[in-house]
Amino acid sequence: MGEKGAMKQIKAIVQPFRLSAIVAALQQIPDLPGITVFDVRGFGRQRARSTPDSIEDEGVLYARKVQMELVVPERLVDEVIRTIRESAHTGNSGDGKIFANSLDEVIRIRSGERGEDAL
Ligand SMILES: Nc1ncnc2c1ncn2[C@@H]1O[C@H](COP(=O)(O)OP(=O)(O)OP(=O)(O)O)[C@@H](O)[C@H]1O
Ligand SMILES: [Mg+2]
Repeated sequence: MGEKGAMKQIKAIVQPFRLSAIVAALQQIPDLPGITVFDVRGFGRQRARSTPDSIEDEGVLYARKVQMELVVPERLVDEVIRTIRESAHTGNSGDGKIFANSLDEVIRIRSGERGEDAL
């Protein structure tokens, strides 16, 4: 367990077709503060394959992925990671990756609250 008020930023890069199932599963966690989702492109160990959905840019091939970012209190980290992993998993290469970092500060713009109170 980390220090009181500790927060982590969780970044997950997943298959776009798993997005709605992942978000639906995350929404079942009552204390989940929020999520940001964006379309990204990239490649992993196998590099990108040419498919109808891949992107070729100046001779480089990318796979379309979705990135999700969440900042959560330390006590939710394991549950969030497990939920993403279980709902994103198909068993195929390209299923994606989850990264976690400590996060120093959060400020709620409306109220000026800081830290875990602002999540
Ligand atoms: N080390 C990394 N740094 C940054 N982005 C990464 C990294 N590894 C994977 N990604 C991103 O995650 C996407 C999915 O990666 P992918 O699941 O193919 O990883 P992998 O290591 O090749 O695992 P697998 O063997 O299961 O395919 C990539 O298209 C890329 O956008
Ligand atoms: Mg891969």
